[in-house]
Amino acid sequence: MEDQRKSVLSCIQPTGLMHLGNYFGAVQNWVKLQEEYRCFYGVVDYHAMTMPYDIKKLRNKTWDLTFDLVACGIKPESLFIQSLIPEHAELGWIFNCFCSYGQLTRMTQFKDKSRDSQLKSKDNFISAGLLDYPVLQTADILIYKADYVPVGKDQDQHLELTRDIAQRFNSSVGKEYFVLPEGLHTETPKIKSTADPSRKMSKSAGEKHYIGVFSEEQRIRKQIRSAVTDTGENTSGKMSEGVENLFQMIKASGKQLDSYNSLMQDFENGGLKYSDLKEVVADALVEMTNEFKEKRDAINENKRDLKYQIKQSSEEIRKVAQDTVKEVKDLVGLLNVKF
Ligand code: TRP
Repeated sequence: MEDQRKSVLSCIQPTGLMHLGNYFGAVQNWVKLQEEYRCFYGVVDYHAMTMPYDIKKLRNKTWDLTFDLVACGIKPESLFIQSLIPEHAELGWIFNCFCSYGQLTRMTQFKDKSRDSQLKSKDNFISAGLLDYPVLQTADILIYKADYVPVGKDQDQHLELTRDIAQRFNSSVGKEYFVLPEGLHTETPKIKSTADPSRKMSKSAGEKHYIGVFSEEQRIRKQIRSAVTDTGENTSGKMSEGVENLFQMIKASGKQLDSYNSLMQDFENGGLKYSDLKEVVADALVEMTNEFKEKRDAINENKRDLKYQIKQSSEEIRKVAQDTVKEVKDLVGLLNVKF
């Protein structure tokens, strides 16, 4: 029987360790969406090539992130690895011809990342792939005819471009072939750096600005202990960003919620001790991440099995992609021959 559920698609780049910002901001929500939707979650290694990168490390990073996602609760059957489905790149090429050059140069992410790329490379390099990135992203989404795309606000411009490309395609071929996908802006906790709560948790700012989901317990505790709370001059009774961030982490973890309530009361009575708060945050995070780590350890014991499962699921998902590309080639006047 055909799957009647609405579909959801999102992707993540294998650029490094998964941290709490990624987990609370995206992955935790992806796990929940699996209950209601047909979900496609991609580890997008073609995208990871758009910035200067270490060729020797990419393949391992791709597998590691895939395993991390499973350990956090993503079902293997929802997962695919982008380069196992080369039709993404093929459809990306076709979409290049339905997207104007000017649209791409206007993307703010391109402007930001091209600066980073120049800094990261030895020779001021900006790849054409970086400019083309949102076209490949469009292919990721439309190839599965996804109804919803859970992404952060920073991806709105790319999603708008996706709809523009779909529209231009539809009107060129004279058929409402692609449904226009919608962003799914579920409210997710935006976790800040504990070292500098005025910026979001991210890898690019350096080691002390993110807490890895699979970090050692001692390291997590240490990072929370040294979290910035407030700078002393706060007498307004308003909660500082740092303290708010700590409270938010407890709530987001779903652990230690009774302590959360009593600490909140302490805060309201003006009697909150930051050391108590930090202890509870650390306990909550350790409790949550230990569950993931146990699953991750079990995966490590038997990587071959899971690799096999992911290859199988990518093959299943590839069939959907192949059907779309076949229809698209028919529509745009390319040849479709069975060899
Ligand atoms: N650009 C997205 C990001 O940086 C990653 C991504 C690639 C993506 N393809 C996608 C997100 C398709 C949603 C849908 O977060």
